[in-house]
Order: sequence, then C-alpha cells, then structure tokens
Amino acid sequence: MKALLLENIHPEGVRLLTERGIEVETVRGALDEAELAARLPGVQLLGIRSKTNVTRAVLESAPDLLAVGAFCIGTNQVDLGAAAEHGVAVFNAPFSNTRSVVELVIAEIIALARHLTDKNAAMHAGIWDKSAKGAHEVRGRTLGIVGYGNIGSQLSVVAESLGLRVYFYDVADKLALGNAQRCATMDELLAVAETVTLHVDGRPGNAGMFGAEQFAKMRRRSLFLNLCRGIVVDHDALREHLLSGHIAGAALDVFADEPKSAGDRFVNILQGIPNVILTPHVGGSTEEAQEDIGRFVAGKLRDFADIGSTTMSVNLPQVQTEVGAGRSRVLHVHHNVPGVLATVNGVLADAEVNIESQTLSTRGPMGYVVTDIAGEFSPELLDKLAGLPETVRLRVIP
Ligand SMILES: NC(=O)c1ccc[n+]([C@@H]2O[C@H](COP(=O)([O-])OP(=O)(O)OC[C@H]3O[C@@H](n4cnc5c(N)ncnc54)[C@H](O)[C@@H]3O)[C@@H](O)[C@H]2O)c1
Repeated sequence: MKALLLENIHPEGVRLLTERGIEVETVRGALDEAELAARLPGVQLLGIRSKTNVTRAVLESAPDLLAVGAFCIGTNQVDLGAAAEHGVAVFNAPFSNTRSVVELVIAEIIALARHLTDKNAAMHAGIWDKSAKGAHEVRGRTLGIVGYGNIGSQLSVVAESLGLRVYFYDVADKLALGNAQRCATMDELLAVAETVTLHVDGRPGNAGMFGAEQFAKMRRRSLFLNLCRGIVVDHDALREHLLSGHIAGAALDVFADEPKSAGDRFVNILQGIPNVILTPHVGGSTEEAQEDIGRFVAGKLRDFADIGSTTMSVNLPQVQTEVGAGRSRVLHVHHNVPGVLATVNGVLADAEVNIESQTLSTRGPMGYVVTDIAGEFSPELLDKLAGLPETVRLRVIP
C-alpha cells in the first residue's frame, strides 16, 4: 500500500504509517487539482492539511484511492459527498487541539483579570504603572461557559481546579462535570457570570447569536471571550459595551472575516481598545496539537487500511471493526437502498458461504457492510458482489 502525504504532515503521522509497512511519499507543500490528479494513481491513502482541495475531479482520477486523512480539524477542502460516492473514507482530527484551546482561554481569563497586556505594552513603552486598581484574582469568581462540548467541558474541569465557580449553558442536555452548575437558559448564565466564554459550534443558527441584547444582560464590569467562531459575535455591539465600560475586557481569537495567509493585513474595529486581547485564530495551534493530529489521523488511516474500521469517518457510515483472526473480510460500500443486505447475503448463501460475523451501518445515501467468513472468498463470489448494481466499492482483507 502507498500513502501520499502533502503539506508537511507531522513526522508522527509518517512514522505510524511507515511502521505499519505502508510506503510513504511526502511532499512539503500543497498540490493543485491537476498535479494531485496526476499523482494519485497507485496511491491508496492520501494525507492533506487545509490547503489541498480534494475535488470531485480529483476523486474521479484516483481509482486506487481508499481514504483521505485531513490532518487538521476542518474538512471543507474535501468534497465529502463525492468521496462517499466513490467509497473513499475521509477522516480528520476533531479533538486533537481541545486542550490547547482550553489552556489559551485560562491564560486569557487571568491576563484580562490582571490587565496583563496593557501593563506589558506600557512597560515596553517605558511606563512603570505599578497599581492594584482593577486587578483581580480569578479564584472564587464565576465563569459562564456557553457551549459545553469538547472544549467547554474540558475548560470547566481545568477552571474549577483554579478555584473558579463554573456555570454553563448548552442547547443539548449535557452532563455537568465536577461541581459545574447547569443553567436552563443563556439569560440565567449571563445573570451570574463575571466572565463569559463562548464555545459553541458553527451551526447556521449561531451566526450573530451574541449581540447587543446579550452584552447588555452581562454583569457590569464582566469579561468576555470568544475562541469559537467569528460569526457568532456582533463586534459593533461588543465595541460599544467595551467603550462604555460595561464590559471590562475581552479576548477574541476568531473573526468573521479572517485574512487568508500569514503576513496579510488584519483590520478590526476592536483594535486599540484597552484590555482587549486579539489573537490570529491560534487557540488550537500548538506543536502538541500538531503532533496529536499526526498520530490520530494516521491511526484512522491505518485502521481503515488494516481492518476496514470507519470509526469517526466524516463521510462514510461508521463501522467499528476488530481484528478478524483466522477469517477473511469483505468490505462492501453500497447505495443505501431497500433490500441491499438481503441481496449481498443471497449472493453469499448461493455460494454456500457461512457468515461468521457481519456489521452494517448506513449514513444518508450510503451503506457499509463488513462481513467476515472462515476461509476465503472465491474470485467468482467477489466478481458477483462487485457486479451488483448497488455496489460502490468492494475490498477484501485476506
Ligand atoms: N480558536 C481555535 O483555534 C479553535 C480550535 C478548535 C475549535 N474551535 C471552535 O470551538 C468551538 C467548540 O469546539 P468543540 O470541539 O468543543 O465543539 P463541540 O461540537 O464538541 O461543542 C459545541 C457545543 O456547543 C453547543 N451549542 C451549539 N449551539 C449552541 C447555542 N446556540 N447555545 C448553547 N450551546 C450551543 C453544542 O450542543 C455542543 O455541546 C467550535 O466552533 C470550533 O470550531 C476553535
């Protein structure tokens, strides 16, 4: 098996695949559509980061491709539907940078409570401003977390260990960790929290969810952080509340309109306001997160190649498989139409093949069934399965 890894993927990913006996070719940068299409014949596993687009045209020119690993969090750069239609599994690393975001949030809560960035700027400008005015410990203060998912809930645990009293609000019914208190509404949270931090996902309904009304409901002199999605917050409203002094400080890592590349100019109406920390979407950007992404995604590619597991695939139905010792395994990606499993099993029964284990999962228009038998699948049987009109992709693991 051969893997092509683009965009300088972390060595940990290369190590994991090489160790499994996969031939790995690496390319430092991204490839454009034509270059990528030309390189893919003979390649089973493709690794990319955010700058390589895996389009329908690319997928159509890649007959040998089994899986794409997006060694990053987002998968917008891959045509997920087209990949599913070709039976190509796509994986990413949604959790590898959770801890990195949490640590930056904690650092910023303390920095805002102590006016650290203003003190630092003054010192660099030659001003010795030794004063305790407006500086606070975070211990014992209330933190309101909006969005109690992977990041929000881990933040809850770390914040409590610093002595913060945690309240959270989530649209889904989430288990409260430690001593965190669930709020039934966001208004309830805004009424108690001295620091409000947003960790919601980017679903369409969240655009503009935090604006003038929500800032007005926050406690006087409270702190505000957004490290989730830029579109969620109305920056005009935030600016007004910062200038009026109602909000005592803010940290923003994400923006509705972010520059494309490092070095590009950044313009925002919050620039120049005291006790406002602006960072260039680096919440999850640490070397540890990169290493974990390398390990995690390479592991998913390896498991798909070795045992057909699609656990955490973002486009194919998810089937968690075990190593099938002493068995042959056929992996069948198909169109999810009524009766398809009966048809597959009919073909197996006609060939007098006894199924040892079988797992089916479906996702929208696609289905995936993993079948183990004792002994081997005959070439005739495999031809029959491959020739079924419902079949999208057939692979055998001997
Ligand atoms: N700054 C960065 O570098 C960085 C890095 C990683 C993730 N993120 C962003 O952080 C956010 C959270 O990531 P995650 O992995 O914790 O996601 P997640 O999907 O695990 O959690 C999101 C939570 O928000 C809740 N939610 C959604 N809409 C809500 C609303 N309107 N009100 C209350 N709760 C709501 C969901 O029910 C879910 O529990 C995402 O938007 C992600 O893109 C940013």
